[in-house]
Formats: sequence, C-alpha cells, structure tokens
Amino acid sequence: MRLTKKVMAMALASCMVLSMAACGGSQPAETTAAATEATTTAAEAEAEKSDEAETTAEAAAAAVEGKDPSEIKVGISIYQFADNFMTLYREELQRYLVEECGLKAENISIMDGKNDQGEQMNQIRNFITQGYDVMIINLVQASSEPTVTEECNAAGIPVVYINREPEAEREQAWVDEGIKATYVGADARQSGTFQGEEIAELDNKGDADGDGVVRYIMVQGDPENVDAQYRTEKSIEALTGAGVEVEELVKMRGDWDQTKGQEITANALSQHGAKIDVVFCNNDAMALGALQAIEAAGRTVNEDIYLVGVDALVEVVEHVMNDKMTGTVFNDYFGQAHTAADKALDFVNGKDVDNVYMVDYVKVTPENAGEILELIK
Ligand code: BGC
Repeated sequence: MRLTKKVMAMALASCMVLSMAACGGSQPAETTAAATEATTTAAEAEAEKSDEAETTAEAAAAAVEGKDPSEIKVGISIYQFADNFMTLYREELQRYLVEECGLKAENISIMDGKNDQGEQMNQIRNFITQGYDVMIINLVQASSEPTVTEECNAAGIPVVYINREPEAEREQAWVDEGIKATYVGADARQSGTFQGEEIAELDNKGDADGDGVVRYIMVQGDPENVDAQYRTEKSIEALTGAGVEVEELVKMRGDWDQTKGQEITANALSQHGAKIDVVFCNNDAMALGALQAIEAAGRTVNEDIYLVGVDALVEVVEHVMNDKMTGTVFNDYFGQAHTAADKALDFVNGKDVDNVYMVDYVKVTPENAGEILELIK
C-alpha cells in the first residue's frame, strides 16, 4: 500500500510515465531511444492500474508467465555494500523481488563485492556453479564486463548490469551477437546537466562573491565510472551554456565517499578560501562531507557559497528544504531496481529484452524537495 502510493506520487512528481503494473508486466519508468518505445495501450494501462490497486504478492507472482517465481534463483552482486546509494537500491531490489514478484527470499543471493573485482568475479563464478537462473550485477569495474558476460553467456545465464554502465560498443555487441545481457541505469549526462542548471537558475547564477566569474571545485566519484565523468562534464557545460564564465579551482576524486568529500572540500577551502563560489559533488554522500567542511570553515551555503549533489539521500533532501544545501538530483533507485528485476525475470521467462533501459533523473530544489521527501522517506 505504502509503495503503491509512493510509485504513484513519483509518477506525479516527475511527470514520468511510470508503469502501474506489478512485477513482470512493467515497462521501465522511462526509456531512452535505445530502449523500447512504450507499447502499452490506454486500455492496457487502465487494466494495469486497476490490477495494481489489489495487487498481492500472489497475484503479482501469478502474473509472471513462464517459470514459477518461487523457483527462480537470482544471483546479485553489489560493487560495495558500504555505498549509501547502492544500499537503498539493494534493499528496494530485494523487497520488490520478494514482495511484488513472488520470489523466495532464500532464492535471492545478494553478495558484497567489497569494491574488489576479483572478489566479485568469484561470486559470479559461484552463481554459475550453483546454477542460478539469472544475475543482476553492479560491477566493481565496468571494464570487467566482457569477461563477466563471456562466462555467464557460456553457462547460459543472462545478466542484468546495473548502475555502472559498460561501454556502448559492448551494449551493441550483445545485440549483434544475440547475448542475453542488458544494462539498467540512468543517463548520467542528465544528472550533470540538472546540477549545472540548479546553479544557473539562481538569481546570481552561482556568482556568490559577485566578481563576474563562478569559481568552483569539483568533487568527483570514481573517475572510471561514467556517472562521475558525465556529471563532471555536463554540470559545467550547463553553466557555461547559460552564459556563465567559470573557473575550475580544484578537481579531485572522492570515490563517492563522504569522508573523502569532506577532506577534499576542507583542503580546497583552506587553499582558495572565499574565492570558491560553488562546490559540485558527483553524489550526495560526498556533498554531505563537503557540507561538514563548509560549516567548519565558517561559510554558509546559499549565502556565500553554493553546494549541489546527486542521489537525493533523505538527509540531503531535508537540507535542501531547510536551506542548508542548494540542490540535488533524484537518482530514482525505485525505477531502476524495479526495471532491473523485471528484465531479469523477462530473461528467465524467454521474453524479449532490449540492451539498455534508462530511468529519468529528477531535479530537487527547494520548490519540490518536500514532495520528493514524501516519496523516499
Ligand atoms: C551514485 C553514487 C554511487 C555510485 C555507485 C552513482 O550513480 O550517484 O552515489 O556511489 O552510483 O556506482
């Protein structure tokens, strides 16, 4: 009941065409050109809506054609359990598979990759040996995808990659070679653009000291990850595209980590002081660290410095509401987890699966922070 309300509210908040179907019948929240065109007719949508109102785990399970959901075994490996965002994602993925798709909790194995590709590879090989039906993999290193795909494909096990996007050519190769693999994520370019727009839309366009140039520091995630690359690039592009003159003072990798975000920002503040107008963080965990450093340096967000992140962690959305952070971008882990689970089950049931599914990001500013908080809390 609670989730149904959330999902409906999310659709409202982001004006997205969110599927109202339960597990197995849903389309992703939003798809890119690379993904399928929505094929749901108005009549089907209506039917799905009324279905959902009375969805129970059993009804949802029955809706999945093919293999009995209670017999499906899913192997999941998350790059690192210690990641705040991936923890929210993982918990929702597990909840959805059990409560809405009718899988047995004991048939879902979720492993911690511990940020170690070797460790994750062992987990994947164990899933193969144990005859899992499908895997959902959040790679430690996106560059390991060819090996993982090859081994899974040789064993006849489909793979749904999440969160860390493999190379576009590889995604195309899955199609060309008829390999059962897909990627479910969100287009990081969009999140970067939204961050830049949040600054460009301020009255002073982020020029806190009014000297005509927006000087910023960039706290990056893991730069091997396209999320970090695109957010770094597109946030600044949005700003310069709005006619703002910018100067980069510091760019450093913070590996998505709060403590590193705090350290990088503290060092930058002691080196460049009042010159810094904006702190861009590739995610919210690092932005929370940056906020600690900003406060410790006696600076005040939204008065003499601006701060933006990505993810929409509860604490950050509350800060946006209370004028302690400038903005963030909702990284829709509900939509991503549901699509990943749906596509995994589609693979198991022999349905057609595209190679890429993208879920939309949503800008979070003081105007809609309350609404977003309702959805995620
Ligand atoms: C999230 C980060 C997270 C990373 C993990 C990104 O999409 O924004 O918070 O640490 O994924 O790969």
